[in-house]
Amino acid sequence: MPWDRPNNVPYPNVWWTFCAPDPDRDDGALATYRVEDLTEDRIEDAIKLYTEHFLDDEPLCSYGRIRHDPPSYEEVVKFWMGVFEKKMTIVCYKEGSKELVGANLLSVKSVNDNVDFANLIKSERMQKLVAVNEYMTDTVNLFERYGVDKYLTAYGLSVNNRYRGRGIATEILKARRPICQAFGLRLTSTNFTAIGSQIPAAKIGFQTDLEMKCDI
Ligand SMILES: CC(C)(COP(=O)(O)OP(=O)(O)OC[C@H]1O[C@@H](n2cnc3c(N)ncnc32)[C@H](O)[C@@H]1OP(=O)(O)O)[C@@H](O)C(=O)NCCC(=O)NCCS
Repeated sequence: MPWDRPNNVPYPNVWWTFCAPDPDRDDGALATYRVEDLTEDRIEDAIKLYTEHFLDDEPLCSYGRIRHDPPSYEEVVKFWMGVFEKKMTIVCYKEGSKELVGANLLSVKSVNDNVDFANLIKSERMQKLVAVNEYMTDTVNLFERYGVDKYLTAYGLSVNNRYRGRGIATEILKARRPICQAFGLRLTSTNFTAIGSQIPAAKIGFQTDLEMKCDI
């Protein structure tokens, strides 16, 4: 059975708040930010964020030119919609603003999940992308390695270009801890595919189980 968000955890919930520099202030003043569950009314904006601030920048999607190949783009949006439906995606806002500062596509992966990507993904570029990620995940085998039957995984961390370099991704990743606690999950893992996410992950204590070189 695929995992479903239990009703006893409030939704939408604010998971994390923090202070970081405000890009709209020249004096280096800090703003307050909050990380919370994505709600249905912001799904279009989340798709826009991932389209404009993820696809051309994340190394594997950029290399695959996913945004510029219509069948691949259609599939990736469909994939995101499937992830959004699970109500685990988190987004970041600056206090007092509705602009999406960043987001992380989260999902709970269970040992009994039987997702048949061959049925879902038909475009060659997306198939390659999935294959790389599946290879990394299968090689590590987190279920055996950590003795868990489920864990919190992620399919994309994005920070709006104008907010980058302020520690926002690092803070969004910190929300994983209260999320795991609330859902009784003992493990979270991600295939961090960019130096800009590997550095924040290492900073807050993610440990590396597998490293693969990628010359693109
Ligand atoms: C990766 C991303 C989420 C980082 O967001 P961010 O809010 O700027 O990240 P942070 O400020 O918390 O931290 C980034 C760190 O990486 C470093 N960094 C970023 N790009 C780098 C590069 N090309 N080379 C070396 N270091 C780099 C920054 O200096 C910073 O480290 P520091 O705090 O020690 O200075 C953002 O750039 C993004 O959305 N990229 C496009 C999508 C993507 O690649 N997502 C990650 C896939 S898992």
